[in-house]
Amino acid sequence: MYALEINNVSKVYDNKFTALDDVSFKLTSGDFVGLLGVNGAGKTTLISAISGISSYHGQIKVMGIDLKKNLVAAKKNMGIVPQEIAFDPFTTVYQTLKLQSGLYGVKNNKSWLDEVIVWMHLEDKIDANTRSLSGGMKRRLMVAQALVHKPPLIILDEPTAGVDVEIRKNLWDFIAGLHQQGHTILLTTHYLEEVEKFCNHIVMIDKGKVIARSSKEELNLKANGMPTIFEVETKDGLFLDELRSLLISTENNKYTLRLANNDQMMLVLNQLMAGGIKIENMNISKPKLEDIFLNYLGH
Ligand SMILES: Nc1ncnc2c1ncn2[C@@H]1O[C@H](COP(=O)(O)OP(=O)(O)OP(=O)(O)O)[C@@H](O)[C@H]1O
Ligand SMILES: [Mg+2]
Repeated sequence: MYALEINNVSKVYDNKFTALDDVSFKLTSGDFVGLLGVNGAGKTTLISAISGISSYHGQIKVMGIDLKKNLVAAKKNMGIVPQEIAFDPFTTVYQTLKLQSGLYGVKNNKSWLDEVIVWMHLEDKIDANTRSLSGGMKRRLMVAQALVHKPPLIILDEPTAGVDVEIRKNLWDFIAGLHQQGHTILLTTHYLEEVEKFCNHIVMIDKGKVIARSSKEELNLKANGMPTIFEVETKDGLFLDELRSLLISTENNKYTLRLANNDQMMLVLNQLMAGGIKIENMNISKPKLEDIFLNYLGH
């Protein structure tokens, strides 16, 4: 069963600007997917289409329900945290969550709301007017608001933007916990280390087109095939002439080499040892998701 199916989705703004160009990908139930793309790539446009607030060409299905056929049923199966912060300015934190529950026809969810409020560190603010919240608190309330009906599919558009380090960690733990309970997660963020840590798949879009879809394992393989920085400190600063072409810097006894891929590192190590060079220290910086992302973008 797919939690989300995006089939040949396109979006043209004002009859002239193509923001999404034939986008297709699927999320299997239980997936945790990072949707990556530079500013303006089309991530929010896609999420707006999924949320039903913006028109599109193509087909979107949430838990098997075609959005164009039954938007109300599809909406009950998803919770979306939008990028833009917007609240009714005359309600309190708790009222906002109760009102949202009412919209989904959910009653008797007080214990779940209390749990979400604690996770989002909003317990001291339940009676505060939404206008009086700080930017980070507003974002946390938006996350809580999207989850009042405990939807199987959760979509978060930059949930951690403007959220401080400690609460960001808390938010990630909460999202990871929901994933462990079986919820399917799709999120966008510019914090790629967090994507690397939590997501099991990534979809990259650029200029409205999908440019890569990979599992974590495929990304690791890709990283192994990409240039790797290898630092090696040798006894007495000895080095081999035949390896000098790989050097990008030298400092005291420390040599920094740029290798074509992970396999070349074993060759270099063997060469150093065969040449009688004693290694005192070494460090390998494998390409990070950020490097892979830039590589896909052609940088
Ligand atoms: N209502 C609109 N009318 C016209 N063009 C729009 C509209 N909304 C977005 N766009 C354009 O569509 C493109 C994609 O924007 P979108 O907001 O989807 O990007 P994004 O990937 O979410 O970027 P970011 O990382 O900055 O949030 C941009 O060029 C943007 O200017
Ligand atoms: Mg966006």
